[in-house]
Amino acid sequence: MSDGRPAAPVIAIDGPSGSGKGTIAARVAERLGWRLLDSGALYRIVAWAALARGIPLDDPERLAVMTRTLVIEQGAAAVRVDGVDVTAAIREERISVGAAAVATLPEVRQTLRGVQQGMRVAPGLVADGRDMGTEVFRDAELKIFLDASVDERARRRHKQLMEKGSSVSLRDLFASIQARDRSDRNRAVSPLRRAPDAISIDTTQMSVEAVVAEVLKHVETRGLAAGPARSRGGGQEND
Ligand code: DC
Repeated sequence: MSDGRPAAPVIAIDGPSGSGKGTIAARVAERLGWRLLDSGALYRIVAWAALARGIPLDDPERLAVMTRTLVIEQGAAAVRVDGVDVTAAIREERISVGAAAVATLPEVRQTLRGVQQGMRVAPGLVADGRDMGTEVFRDAELKIFLDASVDERARRRHKQLMEKGSSVSLRDLFASIQARDRSDRNRAVSPLRRAPDAISIDTTQMSVEAVVAEVLKHVETRGLAAGPARSRGGGQEND
């Protein structure tokens, strides 16, 4: 850090859609009392704001300018953009598609990188996304790469949507997860990949609590937790 103080510690949790990283990151942050960064939500917010303002998703300059002016509030229960609650809106399928498109633009990634790095505050940050360990927080104290089979990820997403009353077929979800994987892994800038120093956890056969326990074990081994982890709290299930 420029003021000479060591930067607050970061736990970077990366992985494909449906690997469980959103849920795991939220629980780990809650247990440690650290701040949570859902970086995917930032890409979703850019897509939402662009669609709301009629800015084409393939116009990097206008998108970057727009991104710099957005006032984003990411709370535990709600996400607001310029005062508008977009918590539910940014989870719509059209926004998932738009977010994947804006995430390919270096100008947008560059702007969001500053926003993300600005969230690294004491006592620590749990950051979830695709490039937390490889790009945004290369010096993270702990890097975790979560994965699960495409079948299992589609089943998890299907369960979430059914609970929300939506009726997308499992087959369609399987295809959409495969398409997003391709786009995330093959894009030219910051593709999804495991950092060489990341710990891989395959969550296909694991419960949420088992994955959280595994991550906290590594937190402890590295001496990152200042005190005893907090008791379990609620929190939304997310990918
Ligand atoms: O995790 P998510 O589904 O909310 O992410 C939305 C999109 O943003 C997805 O296409 C991947 C992209 N993304 C990214 O490129 N880099 C990140 N750090 C987080 C998400």
